[in-house]
Amino acid sequence: MSDQGHNKTYEPEITVFTCIYCGYMSADTAGALRLQYPPNVKLIRLPCTGKTDVGYILRAFEMGADGVYVVGCPIGNCHHVRGNERGQARVERAKKLLDEIGLGGERLNIFFVSGGMGATFAHHAEEMTERIRMLGPNPLK
Ligand code: FES
Repeated sequence: MSDQGHNKTYEPEITVFTCIYCGYMSADTAGALRLQYPPNVKLIRLPCTGKTDVGYILRAFEMGADGVYVVGCPIGNCHHVRGNERGQARVERAKKLLDEIGLGGERLNIFFVSGGMGATFAHHAEEMTERIRMLGPNPLK
């Protein structure tokens, strides 16, 4: 196994699926507030995290992401009513699959934030980057 994971200079590539409402707005708020978060976090917008598909998540890893996470509206506040709960269920399913195929479910996560929570968005980006840095690069690469 590579020891790159413990190398502080290793910058993981992270794919983030956000809904176009609170999820994306929180990233936008972070930008407007000039909050720094790791630049290797690549955002992909979905109409709702309920559109998150296990296939999209696996595809992101296949394409070389070292980590993936989903950012949606707070539970109870999804613009598509319960889409975020469906998204959460898919993330849980995908985590199990990642464990089974040896990639590790801890490379995947989901967070719920409201649109004004720019600092929380930046915090999750830091937190996931740090976690993936410890885990090391995607072994599929
Ligand atoms: Fe944001 Fe559904 S619209 S999670």
